[in-house]
Amino acid sequence: ASTLGAAAAQSGRYFGAAISASHLGEQAYVNTWGAEFNSATPENEMKWDTVEPNQNQFNFAPADRIVSQARSRGMSVRGHTLVWYQQIPGWVSRLNGNDLRSAIANHINQVAGHWKGQIHSWDVVNEAFEENGTRRQWFVQQRLGDGYMEEAFRTARAADPNAKLCYNDYNTDGINAKSTGIYNMVRDFKSRGVPIDCVGFQSHLSQGANLSSYQANLQRFADLGVDVQITELDVGGSGSAQAATYRTVVQACMAVSRCTGITPWGVTDKYSWRSGDTPLLFDGNYNKKQAYTAVLDALNGG
Ligand code: G3I
Repeated sequence: ASTLGAAAAQSGRYFGAAISASHLGEQAYVNTWGAEFNSATPENEMKWDTVEPNQNQFNFAPADRIVSQARSRGMSVRGHTLVWYQQIPGWVSRLNGNDLRSAIANHINQVAGHWKGQIHSWDVVNEAFEENGTRRQWFVQQRLGDGYMEEAFRTARAADPNAKLCYNDYNTDGINAKSTGIYNMVRDFKSRGVPIDCVGFQSHLSQGANLSSYQANLQRFADLGVDVQITELDVGGSGSAQAATYRTVVQACMAVSRCTGITPWGVTDKYSWRSGDTPLLFDGNYNKKQAYTAVLDALNGG
């Protein structure tokens, strides 16, 4: 196949991009997204500070623009993200105890409920582990304890029963202390019937990254009975070294049957969050890079 989305679809996978509503007026941006990708993740528009800036006042419009454009093109949508320690409004951080617990539940109910039936996978909880594999000590963890996480997954399941529910994190690109902490949580959730369907591996990488246990790490999670997804892929650098790293990641996903899709964190280098770097598949003029060719080749089985 000659596009990323069509090539991924040959093996039943999706190939998406993080999309910003602020660029939807740019023809080349929208055309490249539509031509090459078959999935979207709103880059910022579903985050707590955007969708519920004040308690019980919801602002779904920016994300709705992405979701409706994606769905009208037959694309799937990843929901990002329901519970995260960043981009969280001040009013949440001033709550305690049952007020905090019910604010989180209400947030999940309203947000997942708004797009019920339209989201392929939700990042229910994002970045809740430290590098050493213990729980991140942010205010929700400190005030509610470990249980906030399984409560979030149970609430999300009830709010949108057909969405796959993911835990998502970064620096989990191999078998290491952090990925092992997450692995142990997923194993525990599966053994106790806590609803979790997938684990997202953000994969913000540099071109020299050591990926020697990348595939084995995906596989050990898949063997727990969850899907795995590459959710925020980008590779700092350029040229053939960058392309080689992209190829390694895509080949690893292709080799793991439960690796169901890949999402680079943007369309064009021009709008990458890694300003000053060129980590994506299309350059600032929407030309295909070497990395693009390597990814397409790998999706086609090369
Ligand atoms: O839109 C406002 C603009 O109105 C305002 O004037 C300007 C001033 O700071 O900020 C703009 O918002 C920025 C937003 O991106 C949109 O550009 C925020 O400040 C900025 O913090 C935000 O950064 C995002 C970051 O998450 C924090 O939410 C990045 O775009 C986004 O790529 C990044 O994505 C995260 C994933 O969600 C989770 N994993 C890591 C990944 C990279 O950090």
